[in-house]
Amino acid sequence: MLEVRDLRVTYGTTVAVDGVDLDVGGGEIVALLGPNGAGKTSTLRAISRVVPATGTITFDGEPVGALRPEAVARRGLVHVPEGRHVFPNLSVHENLLVGRSARDGRPSAFEVDDVYDLFPELVPLRSRAGWALSGGEQQMVAIGRGLLAAPRLLLLDEPSLGLAPTVVDRVYAVLTEVAGRVPLLLVEQDTERALRLAARAYVMAAGRVALSGPAGEVAGRDELVASYLGRTATVRDGA
Ligand SMILES: Nc1ncnc2c1ncn2[C@@H]1O[C@H](COP(=O)(O)OP(=O)(O)OP(=O)(O)O)[C@@H](O)[C@H]1O
Ligand SMILES: [Mg+2]
Repeated sequence: MLEVRDLRVTYGTTVAVDGVDLDVGGGEIVALLGPNGAGKTSTLRAISRVVPATGTITFDGEPVGALRPEAVARRGLVHVPEGRHVFPNLSVHENLLVGRSARDGRPSAFEVDDVYDLFPELVPLRSRAGWALSGGEQQMVAIGRGLLAAPRLLLLDEPSLGLAPTVVDRVYAVLTEVAGRVPLLLVEQDTERALRLAARAYVMAAGRVALSGPAGEVAGRDELVASYLGRTATVRDGA
């Protein structure tokens, strides 16, 4: 469904993504792991065309690497960014409705009521402004908005970031529930949680894929993962 080849992203002199190959099959949940600064967010941003990149990006057999971000979203490649980006002056309900505008006629597996069923904690907050929400509530709204955009592939950047463990449990319970209905490319630093949900995983370090394979195998190579994390941290500390 998604095929990425030799993806490169640079910011000035910083090479953030350095030749990444990555695939997501139809119906698949794939995790993209790695330490701070590994290039995970840049990879997602390049796929959704928010930052310029070289290489090829093919979605459903069609090249999307030259499209504008809005056009990519309208094809069903929907990005829930790092930091959530809920509209501060719109209510919870209005934020959710914004998601529907990217559907472009595609049938949706989720309507607004389904999102309130998935996240009943949002029901009493439906009139509350985005700025007045907690981080966990914002994450729920951001995921709900993504689901309402009729994603054919949902790109999800660090849904657990900065949230209390009980809130992360809630978010992951919902992701587990929707996993059969929406393919996911899930960026996470919470390796354990992501590997429980995903079928396959890529581990990035310093802009490259350092390790990839079935989630069970990647999880089984914990020490290897830890060594990548450790080594990168050491390099950074020394820099
Ligand atoms: N807008 C930018 N301008 C310049 N450099 C950037 C920019 N965004 C990211 N970088 C750099 O690119 C590299 C990759 O960053 P990126 O955000 O993709 O990593 P990440 O794996 O998502 O990290 P994190 O886990 O901290 O979110 C880092 O060295 C980072 O400092
Ligand atoms: Mg990131």
